[in-house]
Amino acid sequence: MANKKSQDLMDKLVSLCKRRGFIFQSSEIYGGINSCWDYGPLGVELKNNIKRFWWKSMTQLRDDIEGLDASILMHPQVWVTSGHVASFADPMVDCKNCKMRFRAEEIQRTKCPNCGGELTEARQFNLMFKTHMGPVEDNASVVYLRPETAQGIYVNFLNVLAPSRQKPPFGIAQIGKAFRNEISPGNFIFRSREFEQMEMQFFINPKEDDKWIEYWKEERMKWYHSLGIKKENLRFHQHDKKELAFYAKMAFDIEYNFPFGWKEIEGIHNRTDYDLSRHTQATGKDLSYYDDQTKERYIPYIIETSAGVDRSLLVCLLDAYHEEVVKDEERTVLKFDPKIAPIKAGVYPLVKRDNMPEIAKKIEDLLRPHFKVFYDEGGAIGRRYRRQDEAGTPFGITVDSQTLQDQTVTLRERDSMEQVRVKIDELVDVLKKKIWGFEK
Ligand code: GAP
Repeated sequence: MANKKSQDLMDKLVSLCKRRGFIFQSSEIYGGINSCWDYGPLGVELKNNIKRFWWKSMTQLRDDIEGLDASILMHPQVWVTSGHVASFADPMVDCKNCKMRFRAEEIQRTKCPNCGGELTEARQFNLMFKTHMGPVEDNASVVYLRPETAQGIYVNFLNVLAPSRQKPPFGIAQIGKAFRNEISPGNFIFRSREFEQMEMQFFINPKEDDKWIEYWKEERMKWYHSLGIKKENLRFHQHDKKELAFYAKMAFDIEYNFPFGWKEIEGIHNRTDYDLSRHTQATGKDLSYYDDQTKERYIPYIIETSAGVDRSLLVCLLDAYHEEVVKDEERTVLKFDPKIAPIKAGVYPLVKRDNMPEIAKKIEDLLRPHFKVFYDEGGAIGRRYRRQDEAGTPFGITVDSQTLQDQTVTLRERDSMEQVRVKIDELVDVLKKKIWGFEK
């Protein structure tokens, strides 16, 4: 953690997430389980909105990417072929005294940072979780929880290619859970042992790899901008030889300026023909592609874009978090881009009389088929606004005495707190435009 201010920000965010129902520690009433997290009512909405936005950008707004949902458990040989059984490991050291385990690269000293005890030599520690399939728990029944979703895409290359009538350059996109037995998980949901990935594998002619990696770098950076993340908090980091994963020829991270430093949120990798070649050798199934037009046969190279759902969500929370003083009152506000906000609008009667609650309820019914909304009639209107500011709700709709005269309501914007009057029967269109009008 960089310094006290950064630690404070993380502490405040973790506490807001718990208090407002974004994120809880898994199995909390049992004392919790390290590095697993549960997403509450607001968290799951935010997460689904981020995933939907990614899915739309990949599979709906373009005609050269197909979707896939492969199973988490795969044939165990897949992970031998992919290199994960042999190489998906971190060097780690154990403390001989307190038994704590550390990533070797994270500690520069010879003594245990926890108790000062003596450390073992560094050993390779495989990050894949193992389980058993079927009733017998022997070596033959071992299967792995996938550590990346990508392999499910490679082994389905031919299955997707034929029915979709695609040809390189084209991609396959998938969102799903991945599992890694991380040695030092931490920083809230940044590094956990169960997480979700949004991965897209783009199959190309090997001659065009430089062009496509540049293309996907730019596309993916633009995606974070359109998610509403501040440009100054994002940057690329190119891997040097030491950092390159065992399968990559060239790799860039998109990094975010977290309170605990610049860290990776997405990897963009040139995986060459490594994966398809290995799977061809292991299975005898020809995963090459014959181009009718150029009369060329080649094993496609793969440009991979691999984003973490949980890290994207943490970035959205951190980037949106603001504390402000308005008219001598402090407010905490999550300034989410409206399209990813968990709740799109709060609906309020100004007071609980003069038919205002009934009209507000009707407005709630009018909006519900289109947006996730929240009805609230309890307490002073200022407090109700502030509760939704803290939940990141971009709009507030209030029924007041003028509504009784002219069928208009006030529409309050979360960030500027400005209010305009809108006719009730124009509300759906006005909100749609404000939320999705300029979505790319
Ligand atoms: N298929 C390539 C691959 O998995 P990676 O760089 O190991 O590449 C890609 O992971 C992304 O997955 C990361 O940028 C990060 O967003 C997310 N990720 C990886 N390990 C994670 C963990 N332990 N907890 C949360 N997210 C993780």
